[in-house]
Amino acid sequence: MSVLTDTALQARIDGLQAASIAQEAETNRYFSERAKKGDLSWDGLDAAANRFMADKLVALEPIKAEFCHMLCRALRATRVVEIGTSYGVSTLYLADAVRANGGGVVIGTEYEPAKAAAARASFEAAGVAHLIDLREGDLRETLKDLEGPIDFVLMDIWTEMARPALELVHPHLRPGAVIVADNTTGFRHAYRHFFEFVAEPKNGLTTMTLPFDGGLEMVVKG
Ligand SMILES: C[S@@+](CC[C@H](N)C(=O)[O-])C[C@H]1O[C@@H](n2cnc3c(N)ncnc32)[C@H](O)[C@@H]1O
Repeated sequence: MSVLTDTALQARIDGLQAASIAQEAETNRYFSERAKKGDLSWDGLDAAANRFMADKLVALEPIKAEFCHMLCRALRATRVVEIGTSYGVSTLYLADAVRANGGGVVIGTEYEPAKAAAARASFEAAGVAHLIDLREGDLRETLKDLEGPIDFVLMDIWTEMARPALELVHPHLRPGAVIVADNTTGFRHAYRHFFEFVAEPKNGLTTMTLPFDGGLEMVVKG
C-alpha cells in the first residue's frame, strides 16, 4: 500500500523509478571498473564521473521515500529541504506530504541543468510545482540564503556535499526537526565529515542508523 493518495502521481513515480533502475547496471559497471583500476576517490567525484552521472536519476528507493513521506506527515512538515533533487523522484513524495499537511514548500537543489529542467517539467505535469522551490546551481551557493524554520531535510547527495549541506541547513532547523541521510552504512567513510558534525555536542543532534538497504540515517535536532 502506497503512502500516496494520488494514483496519477504514483504512476508518474513508478515510471521514473523504472527508468532509474534501468540505469543501475551501467552505473555499477562504471564505478566497479574504475575501482578495479584504483582511480576512484570517495572524497569527491572527478570530472569524468560527474559527466557520467549527468543523466543518471539515482532515485531514492520507494521504501525510503515512503518513510520520508511518513516522517513529514508525522512532523506536520511545511518547510522541507531536499539536498539532491536529480529528476525529482523523492521531491514528488515530499511535495505530496507537504500538500497533505496543508501546504508549504520543498526547497530542492540540483546543479545539472538538464536534470533540473526535467524535474521542473515533471513537477508541472504532476500539479505540484507550486509547492517546490527548485534551486538550480551548486548547493553551497543556492542554500546560503535559506530561511527557517525547517522541519525536515532529506540528504540524498554525493557524499562529499553532506557536511557542507548540513552546515548550511543546521542553523535553521527547528527543535524536533529530522534529517534523513541515505546510504550511511554503505558510504560510512565518505560520510565521515558529516558524522563529525553530528557528533559535536554543541550542535544538539542525535542520530541512529536505520536498517534500510545501505543504511538510512535518522538525525533529530534536540
Ligand atoms: C542521489 S541524486 C538525488 C536523487 C533524488 N533525491 C531522487 O530521489 O530522485 C543526487 C543529485 O545531487 C546532485 N548534486 C551533486 N552535487 C551537487 C551540488 N554540489 N549542488 C547541487 N546538486 C548536486 C547530482 O547532480 C544528483 O542529481
